[in-house]
Amino acid sequence: MKRIVVLVSGAGSNLQVLIDACQQGRIAAKLVAVFSNKADAYALERAQSAGIPADSLDAKAFTDRASFDAALAQAIDAYQPDLVVLAGYMRILSPEFVKHYAGRMLNIHPSLLPKYPGLHTHRQAIENQDEVHGTSVHFVTEQLDGGPVILQAKVPVFAEDNIEELQARVQTQEYNIYPLVVSWFVDGRLIMRDGQAVLDGQTLPEQGYAAD
Ligand code: GRF
Repeated sequence: MKRIVVLVSGAGSNLQVLIDACQQGRIAAKLVAVFSNKADAYALERAQSAGIPADSLDAKAFTDRASFDAALAQAIDAYQPDLVVLAGYMRILSPEFVKHYAGRMLNIHPSLLPKYPGLHTHRQAIENQDEVHGTSVHFVTEQLDGGPVILQAKVPVFAEDNIEELQARVQTQEYNIYPLVVSWFVDGRLIMRDGQAVLDGQTLPEQGYAAD
């Protein structure tokens, strides 16, 4: 059985969906540990309720990003994961950390990448009067939110939307696509090769699988 470690910072609704998918056999893997950079993340409670070891590291206890990430990597590697899943992990990763997990670390970002990397994606979509917004699952590379896209889901943006409404619409789609992509990886169908995402032997286009 493949082993997955999940990194979180917040509410952990994506983590919950991954927990459920593993329990229901939709992902043929075991969630072996959850780590947070926030001790009060609700995601840690979700993990504990599911019987998954969960712990947090406090950045204030470390002199710099590299030493925090080295400690985190050591904690992660004690669980010997095949895959590291970022699920709302709100901390910039050091290049060493990213290299260490190259090709075996996924992230979900709430925009149609390469549009809107970074923060406040829903606000930007509304302010720019975009008609379409969405979410992207990608391999993590050293470029922030810049790794090869595997799968996106689009949602409409309505003129009367506020940020919370749009975020909720996007997250509903996240709950569909993240477990699916994780299952592709776990089943050996998805790899990163030469900086590109490859599914079933086919290099995926810039906007991932089934881009229209
Ligand atoms: C998600 O919307 C994800 O796209 C972003 O952070 C949010 C995490 O939410 N990276 P949750 O902690 O999974 O509820």
